[in-house]
Amino acid sequence: MGSGDPDSMTISSTFARLAIDGGTPVRPPGRRWPAWPVPAADAERLVKAVLHSGRWAISSAQGPELFERLFARAFTQYVGTRHCVPVDHGSSALVVALESLGLGFGDAVLVPTLTWTASATAVLRAGLLPVLVDVDPRTGCVCPETLDLDVDARAVIAVHWACVMADVPAISAAAGDRDMTVIEDSAQAHGARWEGRGAGSLGRLGCFSFQNGKVLSGGEGGAVVTDDDRLAPVLEELRADSRRYRLEPGGPGELELEESATVQGANFCLSEFSAAVLCAQLGELDAQHEIRNRNYARLAGLIAGIEGVRLLEPPPPQTKMSIYEATLVFEQLPAGMTNQDVAAALTAELGTRFYITDTPLHRSPLLRPWTKPALAPLTERFLACHRGRQYPNADLLADSVVQTHHSTFLGDDRDMADIADAIAKVVASRPR
Ligand SMILES: Cc1ncc(COP(=O)(O)O)c(C=O)c1O
Repeated sequence: MGSGDPDSMTISSTFARLAIDGGTPVRPPGRRWPAWPVPAADAERLVKAVLHSGRWAISSAQGPELFERLFARAFTQYVGTRHCVPVDHGSSALVVALESLGLGFGDAVLVPTLTWTASATAVLRAGLLPVLVDVDPRTGCVCPETLDLDVDARAVIAVHWACVMADVPAISAAAGDRDMTVIEDSAQAHGARWEGRGAGSLGRLGCFSFQNGKVLSGGEGGAVVTDDDRLAPVLEELRADSRRYRLEPGGPGELELEESATVQGANFCLSEFSAAVLCAQLGELDAQHEIRNRNYARLAGLIAGIEGVRLLEPPPPQTKMSIYEATLVFEQLPAGMTNQDVAAALTAELGTRFYITDTPLHRSPLLRPWTKPALAPLTERFLACHRGRQYPNADLLADSVVQTHHSTFLGDDRDMADIADAIAKVVASRPR
């Protein structure tokens, strides 16, 4: 089956032997996929500037402007919030965001079960009780219908999942006048927009990850954004051992941080090397979004004629997609195959990894508070409040979607034609 002409998606693959069974793969093994991460044009120069600046951390003697501060300024503009407090990981962003609310020990926080484990483990690390809730079957995100208001939670982590956004305005409206803060977990949604507003700017606090695989990466890293002038200085202290940036310059050799100490913090500071990389990468993010989104639309068109499978579509108010994981939804799986089988078959046809989504947290081996003695006071409550809870929508999605990393969409039309051909071939394959 040829894919030289991107428009010629052939279904002549009917009953072609799958590569996983020893057949010829759709994509010649020598044809490479785009690499990830892609260093931005300016990244090397900025990292070198850090090397020679004498300032490798924000807790360094005053000198040239910190990249951490430059990045925070640029990112507030990008997201559309008044404040940005960079941190060392997306998980830390969630921890300090939750801590900044000053909640009581063991207060409940709603977390969708379909997410990376950090969305829930951060809640435990902040001394709070994660209560897992189901998701909208159309988006994979928590929604007003699955927001369990009987729980009397003080916060909800609204995770934007894979490439679609949670409806944060509707979730906020459903929370009504309850004392429940909406925190957007935007670790998978840098640059996504809802009716023109940036992911992270719709809730009271927005949290980002800049880990290696994210669309905006500094190797590791994270940030909390907010419009709340009261929370911003608290966030600063929480991430730098109770220290904030000085308002007036200090004396020679003094740090730019001063011990403001209104709340006990910890060290969640972003390294200057990561901050420099992020400054460079941010400049290229929108151009990369454009390529990925164009390819996504192209693939959606190419597979429109294949029965039982489609690409996950953003809800209509989502005006811009940020594709972290491209997500194929199989309304009907090929006969005799699980979605895990389909993922393995596509991987063999294409030579790039397709996989099923992370195991929903209600049955994930990664969420086990009982293995940590320090979490003992929360564990019994965690187990008790989850007894008998059901997650039918998340379970259905987990059994029917197949995903691939966003870098697969940084190439060209021919790549999309290969993916479409492979999907057609696997869907049409003989029952196994
Ligand atoms: C939804 C979500 N939240 C939180 C995180 C945690 O970010 P980090 O790995 O930077 O700690 C991730 C990372 O994959 C994520 O996908």
